[in-house]
Amino acid sequence: MNESTIKFRLMNTDDFDAVVRIDEKVFKASRAEYYELKFEKLFRSKEYLPTSLVAEKEDGTVVGFVMGELYMGEFGISQEGATLDTIGVDPDCQQKGIGGRLINEFMDHLKDLNVQKVNILVDRNDSKLMHFFSANQFSPSKTIVNLERSL
Ligand SMILES: CC(C)(COP(=O)(O)OP(=O)(O)OC[C@H]1O[C@@H](n2cnc3c(N)ncnc32)[C@H](O)[C@@H]1OP(=O)(O)O)[C@@H](O)C(=O)NCCC(=O)NCCS
Repeated sequence: MNESTIKFRLMNTDDFDAVVRIDEKVFKASRAEYYELKFEKLFRSKEYLPTSLVAEKEDGTVVGFVMGELYMGEFGISQEGATLDTIGVDPDCQQKGIGGRLINEFMDHLKDLNVQKVNILVDRNDSKLMHFFSANQFSPSKTIVNLERSL
């Protein structure tokens, strides 16, 4: 695969199968129901601006995606910013910079929409993912704390 020919574009409903396929390859379990709900929310509701992107090869095969939410309430774009909630690159295409480029494209797109901040929740014990996001200039929030209570 020639990484320089990878193109990035906004995700649309036709990408559902490709997203589910990549996710299943990464996590070795199908999460089709999770993505059905997510696609329903992002593409059918008028309250979210399009932010999710896919990376595709020259032949149109989707090899990676990033999904995020940017809530558009009645007062305009949410001041709290946007969230990045799922990113996945086909295991056959990882370690070639596609994940990093997806993040950069995602951030550039949101910057153009005047978003000030992007949040993501990461399990701090997932050292690989923590390393990936830290390498892509994400750092622990100074204003938001993830509170929890055991039952
Ligand atoms: C996290 C994930 C998206 C990263 O995707 P990726 O395409 O492999 O990311 P990159 O290639 O940009 O970066 C990964 C590594 O490859 C390195 N790399 C980048 N370009 C490279 C190249 N041309 N040649 C060799 N290595 C390269 C990066 O420096 C980075 O190395 P590092 O970890 O030592 O810093 C991917 O591993 C994935 O899908 N993981 C599983 C899904 C997941 O856990 N998602 C999070 C839930 S939200």
